[in-house]
Amino acid sequence: MTDQSMGDVLRVVGIAGSLRRASYNRALLCAAQQLTPPSLVIEIEVLDDVPMFNADLDGADTPEAVIRLRGAVREADGLLLVTPEYNHGVPGVMKNAIDWLSQPLAQSALDGKPTALMGASSGAAGTARGQSQLRQSFVLTNTPSMLRPEVLVGRAQDKFDASGRLIDEPTRRFLRGFLEQFAVWIEQQQRARDATLSGSITGALAERRREG
Ligand code: FNR
Repeated sequence: MTDQSMGDVLRVVGIAGSLRRASYNRALLCAAQQLTPPSLVIEIEVLDDVPMFNADLDGADTPEAVIRLRGAVREADGLLLVTPEYNHGVPGVMKNAIDWLSQPLAQSALDGKPTALMGASSGAAGTARGQSQLRQSFVLTNTPSMLRPEVLVGRAQDKFDASGRLIDEPTRRFLRGFLEQFAVWIEQQQRARDATLSGSITGALAERRREG
């Protein structure tokens, strides 16, 4: 049973794919945390201590930071990934987190996890290409991702102040609307999943009745 079905708020894990102290993507995630509707909270997980993926490390000695990250995402109602774009693609920091989260495949924290994307870059396209690449990975990881609205914060240097506060009012408004839609969409995903589960239980009972 999820927290939401018990009448509480939706819990979303937020991850920014940059380790830079003054990262625009970290700042965008912090702004989102402050602009959520009452039905949703964002808990930020950081990637600073997550090592490069190495299957040899994954077993009895799985790194503590990875165990924590996987646990947080598994427990959450949704996932919010905030990605920079490097050389027209997903930066290694974010892709590395996806690779750890996808394993072990049979218990992947990404399997069926309702996910949304945002990104900020100094270029005009605001991480559109990096976000597209992430969606390609979601096919294998079976991660449903909200298609629209797309949060593409281009020319980030004009939208944040020196302390990392999002000062661009239209972007703040857009972000607020995006988060409201994310909350509604997560609930839709949960209802669809519950209906599928109860459908399969009904199917199993019907099957038993036919046999008996
Ligand atoms: C960039 N940047 C960049 N921007 C963009 O819009 N498209 C791109 O393909 C790239 N490529 C790229 C490669 C590398 C190696 C670096 C260091 C930078 C600029 C990028 O948007 C900018 O540095 C952001 O500030 C990175 O995000 P954070 O660290 O501020 O969150």
